[in-house]
Amino acid sequence: MRIVLLGAPGSGKGTQSQLLVKTHGVPQISTGDLLRDAVAKRTELGQRAKAAMDSGKLVDDATVLGMIRERFSKPDAVNGFILDGFPRNIAQAEALEKMLQELGTPLDSVVLMNLDLGILFKRLTGRRICEECGKVFNVFTAPPAAGHKHRLIQRPDDKEEVIGKRLEVYEAQTKPLIKYYDAAGLLRVVDADADVDTVFKSIDRAVKK
Ligand code: AP5
Repeated sequence: MRIVLLGAPGSGKGTQSQLLVKTHGVPQISTGDLLRDAVAKRTELGQRAKAAMDSGKLVDDATVLGMIRERFSKPDAVNGFILDGFPRNIAQAEALEKMLQELGTPLDSVVLMNLDLGILFKRLTGRRICEECGKVFNVFTAPPAAGHKHRLIQRPDDKEEVIGKRLEVYEAQTKPLIKYYDAAGLLRVVDADADVDTVFKSIDRAVKK
């Protein structure tokens, strides 16, 4: 399985990627997670990326493409992957196509997770992450169990003022990928406005088409 999960911030790409990892045995490659890890470790790349991330802008293509190239070279990516949050613009999509052509492993499909703006906003403002295990919760839709003991934190870019910018960037730079992948015959559209299991079933059906 070699797929891209495409969708606006908060559409559920990360949530669904983790379920797909369990059922398909291929890794999730999330550029957002790789970047957040670099920021947390204060690497040189992380320090460069932090300002863009905190303000809701995209990190520069060269940095992201370098990260992806390195990730593809790891043994667990040989049999497939779920790309989550990459590509994010046409230049990244073209670079990805070239990389995969060189590897002789083209994409199987690109799944667009469709969701209204109002719902995206609620999902993003409600998202909380367990500081201890990294599990993702949502104060509105998926709160932690009553006995949950660890501290929950909010991503810096999930603050209301940054969410607006992220959604703007999605409209301007990422949305054109819908046409791009539709023209390539790879696009599958899934209704992401349903509970997690229902969305998962829709994705599973879509990638088998
Ligand atoms: P990134 O980490 O990729 O963030 P994003 O695309 O904005 O997506 P999110 O992680 O916010 O949302 P998601 O779709 O994964 O939703 P989730 O499953 O968590 O990017 C962050 C930043 O890094 C970017 O702004 C940019 O600066 C940089 N970056 C990353 N990639 C880049 C690239 N390629 N190029 C340049 N820069 C890049 O769900 C959200 C919430 O909803 C959770 O609380 C969850 O519990 C809940 N939820 C999920 N599904 C459901 C459901 N079905 N029903 C109810 N609640 C649900």
